[in-house]
Amino acid sequence: MALTIAVLSQKGGTGKTTTVRTLTDALRRAQVRTLAIDLDPQGNLSDYFDVAPDAQPTIADVLSGRATLAEAIHADVVPANLSLAEAELMLGGKMGRELTLRRALAGAPAEYEAILIDCPPSLGLLTVNALVAADHALVTAEAQYFALQGVEQAMEVIELARESLNPELSLLGIVLNLADMRTVHSREALASLRESFGDKVAGSVVRASIAYAESAERAVSILDHRPDLGADYLALADELLGRLPGLEDARGRLAELR
Ligand SMILES: Nc1ncnc2c1ncn2[C@@H]1O[C@H](COP(=O)(O)OP(=O)(O)OP(=O)(O)O)[C@@H](O)[C@H]1O
Ligand SMILES: [Mg+2]
Repeated sequence: MALTIAVLSQKGGTGKTTTVRTLTDALRRAQVRTLAIDLDPQGNLSDYFDVAPDAQPTIADVLSGRATLAEAIHADVVPANLSLAEAELMLGGKMGRELTLRRALAGAPAEYEAILIDCPPSLGLLTVNALVAADHALVTAEAQYFALQGVEQAMEVIELARESLNPELSLLGIVLNLADMRTVHSREALASLRESFGDKVAGSVVRASIAYAESAERAVSILDHRPDLGADYLALADELLGRLPGLEDARGRLAELR
C-alpha cells in the first residue's frame, strides 16, 4: 500500500494546496511515484496541476460509488470540482460515511508509492475521510497570531480519527507557511507552535512570497518558477522523508536536486 498523507487545516489559505502541489513535485523528482488527490470542492489543486476543468470522473464520482479511484486518475491527479460539495452531502446520510475514501484507496493502482490528499478548509466529513484513509497527517499553519489555535483544532480532529477509526494515524508534522521571519508575529507564531508541539513543527519554514500566486496562476511548480523559493519545499520534503520509514533512497535522490 502507498504511504498516504493528508494535508489539512481548519483555516482557509494556510497553504494546504500549495504544499500538496509542491511536495508532490518534490517527491516525483526524487522518483517517488506519487498520486495527488484533490478533496476540496474548490478544485484548487486540480487547477494548480492544470487538469482540464471538465475532466471526468472526479473524486466526487469515486465517493458516490459511480467510479473507481483508478478511473478517476488523470495524469497522476484525482481532480475535484463543485460536484464534490453535493457528494459530501449525499455521503452524510450513508452508513460508513467516514470510511468511504479509505475503501476507495484500497483500489489505488499498486504502482503508487505515495498518495497526498489536499483537504478543504474545514474539519468536516471530507477531512475526516482523509484522516481515516491516511497513515500520516500534515498540518499547515499560517505564520499569524492565531496559528496555534488553528493547529489545536486540527489536532483534536486527528485525535478523534485516531480514537475511533484509524488508530494507526500519525502526526507527520506541522508546517509554518507564509512566513516572514523578519516580523515579530511570524517569529511568535513559530515559537508558540514549538512550545506546544516541539519537534513536530518542521524546522523548514516556507517563506511568504507573491511568486506563489504567480506560480499557481500559471500552473507552474514553484520549484521551476522560483527555485530559490522552492528550496524551502525541498528542505521540507527532505525533513519529512527523514520521518517516513522506507523512503531513505528517495531522500538521497532529493539531496542531489538541492
Ligand atoms: N508561501 C507563500 N507565500 C505567499 N503566498 C502563498 C504562499 N503559499 C501559498 N500562497 C498563496 O496563498 C493563497 C492560498 O494558498 P493555498 O491555496 O495553497 O492555501 P489553502 O490552505 O489550500 O487554501 P484553502 O483553505 O482555500 O484551500 C494562494 O493564492 C497561494 O498562491
Ligand atoms: Mg486549498
